[in-house]
Amino acid sequence: MTAPIREQLDDPDSAVESGARKMDWARQHMPIMAALREEFEDDQPFAGERVGMAMHVEAKTAILAEVLAAGGAEVAITGCNPLSTHDDVSAALDAVEGVTSYAKRGVEDDAYYDAMAAVLDHEPTITVDDGMDLVAMVHEDYPELLDSIVGGCEETTTGVHRLRAMAEDGALDYPMFAVNDTPMKRLFDNVHGTGESSLASIAMTTNLSWAGKTVVVAGYGHCGKGVAKKARGQNADVVVTEVEPRRALEAHMEGYDVKPMAEAAAEGDVFITTTGNRDVIVSEHFDAMQDGVLLANAGHFDVEIDLDALEATAVETYEARDGVQAYEMEDGRRLNVLAEGRLVNLATPVALGHPVEVMDQSFGVQAVSVRELVENGDDYEAGVHDVPDDLDREVAEIKLEADGVEFDDLSGEQREYMDSWQHGT
Ligand code: NAI
Repeated sequence: MTAPIREQLDDPDSAVESGARKMDWARQHMPIMAALREEFEDDQPFAGERVGMAMHVEAKTAILAEVLAAGGAEVAITGCNPLSTHDDVSAALDAVEGVTSYAKRGVEDDAYYDAMAAVLDHEPTITVDDGMDLVAMVHEDYPELLDSIVGGCEETTTGVHRLRAMAEDGALDYPMFAVNDTPMKRLFDNVHGTGESSLASIAMTTNLSWAGKTVVVAGYGHCGKGVAKKARGQNADVVVTEVEPRRALEAHMEGYDVKPMAEAAAEGDVFITTTGNRDVIVSEHFDAMQDGVLLANAGHFDVEIDLDALEATAVETYEARDGVQAYEMEDGRRLNVLAEGRLVNLATPVALGHPVEVMDQSFGVQAVSVRELVENGDDYEAGVHDVPDDLDREVAEIKLEADGVEFDDLSGEQREYMDSWQHGT
């Protein structure tokens, strides 16, 4: 049975102090969460609800959890990746009234899932997931909760993919909002957040420059676009690999060098996978790579780089730096894997995840989606649902107001014109 994090730490008080400082910094830069907190404190929309969360437990996520608690929810939270938790933030969050945190960095698989079970022992009425592990566990191990769960929210692309597959199998038994798919999330968090934070984490972890390097970006979806754009902005030459013809064409028209991984493997200095798929970099690619390459993954699970194959071919492996494992091949080449092939922007020892402002938007959408489930949950059947567009707009408007940005409104005539089919030439 997993205990809350403060019971697991030797010096919980100093952890709480350090985590609280990080949360305070994040809070200062999250105007959307501040506005929603004010509303929730007054209205108490979540009174009587229990929210179970499995997310990257660091400062920004902590603000989402405390805002839900401020709105009356009882919150239980754990990590959604064994390396992305910040123990001090987890402890500080556990000290917030109405919140229990079980997240601990670096736990083995068993302890990771035990912590998730501890969250479900709180019998949540709403789940908030990043990767869908919590939803999977509810359906597999806690079916008795299905009747009382109103619905849930999913943060990331891979989680939404898994949920859609589950719904298609007729196996998803409650409504889930695809928070990932909203413009306010995907066009900012996946693109700018992943781009900025992946490059920052790689640079900080290795102390190496981007300028003059060839960076191979696998996948030109939302995350890949951000990574490619920011890498180019750092004076790197960018090569893109894709499997989807329109995405490949988009990358080509954007001026990137598009080629198969089999060719790119020999050219790259840094490889960053962003596909959400498995086995993107495998043995034949390792064989072609140059000495000293960096291999990093920004997709949700640690399956994009075939580490088993790398381990099997390497004659030696050693920790080259904190967060960098070197694999030495028979011919003396060293291939360097960051963060054990897990999300590089969250799982290296220095990783901080996305910038605060970006997560303010993503978590703003999470918070209003939870509110929608509580207010109108009966309107949604079991399955995957788009977040209603007016909620996404609401979050955008709060952000624009906070940043002092004014924008135009449609006039009555314009609205009528846009809605009509009669007006032609
Ligand atoms: P997306 O669906 O927009 O893009 C994925 C792209 O990868 C697609 O264009 C697809 O055609 C391509 N692809 C698939 N298999 C490939 C292969 N074998 N070789 C080359 N390209 C391939 O998805 P999005 O939103 O970009 O997310 C990608 C992954 O990143 C997901 O696992 C998602 O959960 C994760 N993610 C990670 C974040 C982070 O903080 N690191 C933030 C947001 C999402």
